[in-house]
Amino acid sequence: MSDTLRLLVIEDEAADFLLMQRELRRQEPEASLTWVSRQDHLCAALDAGGWDVILSDYSVPGMDFLQTLKLITSRRPMVPVILVSGTIGEEEAVELLKQGAWDFVLKSRLSRLSTVIRRSLREAREHQARIAAEEALSQREALLNAFFSASPVGMVVLDTDFRHLRINDALARIIGAPTESHLGRTVGEVVPVLAPELLAMLESIVLTGQPILNVEMSGELPSASGMLRHWLISHFPILDGAGGVAAIGGVVTEISERKRVEETLKKSEQRAQALLAENRRLTQRTFKLLEQERRHLARELHDELGQWLAAIQAEAESLRLGRSTGQDAQALASAQAISESAAEVNRVIRRLVGELRPALLDSLGLADSLRDMVSQWQKHRPGVRCELFLEDGLEGMGESLNITAYRIVQEGLTNVAKHAQASRVRISLRRVTDEQGAALILFLENDGKPLSPGDAHRGMGLLGMRERAAAVGGEFDLSSPPGGGVRIEARLPIANRPQEDE
Ligand SMILES: Nc1ncnc2c1ncn2[C@@H]1O[C@H](COP(=O)(O)OP(=O)(O)OP(=O)(O)O)[C@@H](O)[C@H]1O
Ligand SMILES: [Mg+2]
Repeated sequence: MSDTLRLLVIEDEAADFLLMQRELRRQEPEASLTWVSRQDHLCAALDAGGWDVILSDYSVPGMDFLQTLKLITSRRPMVPVILVSGTIGEEEAVELLKQGAWDFVLKSRLSRLSTVIRRSLREAREHQARIAAEEALSQREALLNAFFSASPVGMVVLDTDFRHLRINDALARIIGAPTESHLGRTVGEVVPVLAPELLAMLESIVLTGQPILNVEMSGELPSASGMLRHWLISHFPILDGAGGVAAIGGVVTEISERKRVEETLKKSEQRAQALLAENRRLTQRTFKLLEQERRHLARELHDELGQWLAAIQAEAESLRLGRSTGQDAQALASAQAISESAAEVNRVIRRLVGELRPALLDSLGLADSLRDMVSQWQKHRPGVRCELFLEDGLEGMGESLNITAYRIVQEGLTNVAKHAQASRVRISLRRVTDEQGAALILFLENDGKPLSPGDAHRGMGLLGMRERAAAVGGEFDLSSPPGGGVRIEARLPIANRPQEDE
């Protein structure tokens, strides 16, 4: 509002208007007056707007005052209308005030005009501020209502006797009863099955003023009995101005579906774990049978074939020694050849027996068997430096672990010979005890060619090493270090009780 007071005057008598103008010039030098005496001019002036106060005579020919009042309040409800009349009784004036006039001044007392105008302006400003505050409040309330009803999670406000003051549609749907039917009812009446647990929480919130958040609750509701459901529930205090608990707010999310999925996942995980364990057991058994079979074969080769070969060799020898008894030279040469072939077959059988069943593993244990293997390997490959590091304490780890470690090193060395073109191999075995328990840690690394993509699935050797490690519940890792070559690491858990006899 500018400093100039813009006044619209409805008056049919020019003399009265001039009187008013003179009076106001004295009292309100900043006021600007506009005079209308006809309805159409009034309408135009109202349309133009910008009036601070309207001063109106009561009886203007062609204009009924009450009609004029209505017209003004409908178009400019915030502009105060002051009746300025020569002849109006007190009762009539009170009636007009009821109809919407803000105040009145008698023409005989125009000296009051400024006071009345200023008071009306003050009231108009207060009125305007009140209306704006009410509007803001109702907008906030509408927003809150919309928030409550649009919320996909359940919401509730309880009084301190735990009666429902307010509940949204989402929670009513979860509970399975119409929204309005909850109002005024207690928690115990609405969800009797959950009441003991809920009431304990609510009482604690009233007592401590602290929220209780994300509590998982399960139960059946009267609307769907026989169906176990799950919810995630948070409750919090709503404080009054003095910091006391005035009410309790609650947020409820239905998590039955999530729980079902979790439950199914847990079961299938348990099934997968059981299958994995079964698979390990079977693999371990397969390797055990394989080793048994190898041992049997080795024994047969050694005992049966060995005996027959010895017999053949003896026969050939006796033929050869019978030279003095006059046999021909051809027969003697054949006897010599048979004897040499038999000796060769004997050597092959010994090697096969050694590979099929490392005899030392049974009698001397893992460490000496590995030393023997490495020294045999080294003998045939003098150009490669093979180092074996064995820490103390490799005894008593059980047959499964011994044979697993032995076969991994055996295949590792075979691979180095076949594929690596290495100049150096390092093998180390040590026993550790850490947070995962006791285990044998095996490293086998060589310089030379790195692995190529897809190598791990090219043959049976690497696969067999991995399976052997897994069968004893261990881990196996194969990599190509940045410097080249191949590195194998296996962690083989040492069972408390060796599992040989299972
Ligand atoms: N130490 C190594 N250095 C370089 N390449 C290697 C090494 N070990 C394995 N490889 C590569 O990985 C592949 C797979 O090895 P794996 O032992 O599984 O099979 P293989 O030795 O080819 O045949 P087999 O089934 O007789 O063992 C090999 O063919 C080779 O290309
Ligand atoms: Mg191999």
